[in-house]
Amino acid sequence: MFVVVGVTGGIAAYKTVHVVRLLVKEGHDVHVVPTADAVRFVGLPTWEAISRNPVTTSVHEDVARVRHVALGQSADLVIVAPATANTLAKMATGLADDLLGTTLLATTAPVVAAPAMHTEMWRHPATVRNVETLRERGVVLVGPDDGALTGGDSGPGRMSEPEAIVAAALAVVAGPPADLSGLRVVVTAGGTREPIDPVRFIGNRSSGKQGIAVALAAADRGAEVALIAAHVDEGVLAAASAHPRVGVTRAGTAAELAEAVGERAASADVVVMAAAVADYRVAEVSDAKLSKDAADGTRLTLDLVENDDILARLVRERPEGQTVVGFAAETPVDGETLLDRGRRKAARKGADVLAVNRVGWSEGFESDGNEVVLLAAAGDVIATAAGSKREVADALWDAVLGIRSEAV
Ligand SMILES: Cc1cc2nc3c(=O)[nH]c(=O)nc-3n(C[C@H](O)[C@H](O)[C@H](O)COP(=O)(O)O)c2cc1C
Repeated sequence: MFVVVGVTGGIAAYKTVHVVRLLVKEGHDVHVVPTADAVRFVGLPTWEAISRNPVTTSVHEDVARVRHVALGQSADLVIVAPATANTLAKMATGLADDLLGTTLLATTAPVVAAPAMHTEMWRHPATVRNVETLRERGVVLVGPDDGALTGGDSGPGRMSEPEAIVAAALAVVAGPPADLSGLRVVVTAGGTREPIDPVRFIGNRSSGKQGIAVALAAADRGAEVALIAAHVDEGVLAAASAHPRVGVTRAGTAAELAEAVGERAASADVVVMAAAVADYRVAEVSDAKLSKDAADGTRLTLDLVENDDILARLVRERPEGQTVVGFAAETPVDGETLLDRGRRKAARKGADVLAVNRVGWSEGFESDGNEVVLLAAAGDVIATAAGSKREVADALWDAVLGIRSEAV
């Protein structure tokens, strides 16, 4: 395979020497493209000797072979490691002021980036936005890991280990495994809307992105998926609607969602309740738009009644061999409390896996990233997952497979 390894100006560049070695050892034709800053950390002779190919940083060298686009056009895979905050920003904007920039714009190959930087730089809103843009465009990010950083401090920002980068990059080229093939899966996604009157509703901020990532991950890994979508934007739903192994059913209210799940759950191997389902509905929905006259002075009181607990019912009525997965969104301030509440909920609901995630004004909903703790019914932590919603979805399916293989 023709692999381009872009190297940028961070201390972790020395670890990328090992990335190149591993790829060469596996028989790949590796072409290193360092930025001008990268060669201040590790020089050209090292890259040339390790990769066994000529290495340049400038678009003005080897012009006869149109090197500034030729490398990108020939590539089957591009890895950028370490990816500095600066290079992530350049990639997100499409800047092409050096050979790595032109190569990245000229390629249609999968791009895998391994960010490395201090925690403050990683958490800066500009970097967060750039990473989101890159993920939306299909760039796969490996890491960064949490650990010791160059200045003696520690936190998220450390480049992943070379073995992990190479394994993740080769897995991207190989495509998803078909380890869910033969399974029938029901996934719910989005937020329900409980009508108040013909024009108003009680809703929530769920975008449906996590549930749809769960459905898509299952379908990509070979499962037949029935996706029940409560309110989800068409744009978010598009990839799922187009997938040959996903059938989409729309549901508006919690009751409609319960009915749609109920019809399909009996024949499913796995049910994942990722939708944000309203706990309460309006007792008496008004046929006419409520006017201000309905209010008592400046207050309007709505009577709410509890909806059925769909997850609890699924657990109660599940057929033998079925795995039930729930999601719990909590807003506690610290990780311990989050886990405590998750454990109590896991015990109450009895789902085989409960994915607990923190939500707040700026977390969880609508964003493209997520962080979850996967709990077993007994409260043990099965795994933690952080990253894009797709990465979280894949971790969830890995956990489900683990549980199902233990049960056999
Ligand atoms: C000793 C040293 C270490 C650095 N490490 C990093 C790093 O790990 N991550 C990062 O984003 N920038 C780091 N920088 C800053 C980058 O080198 C700088 O932003 C540079 O412009 C990056 O250029 P490039 O992305 O074109 O390689 C470091 C700078 C120095 C001097």
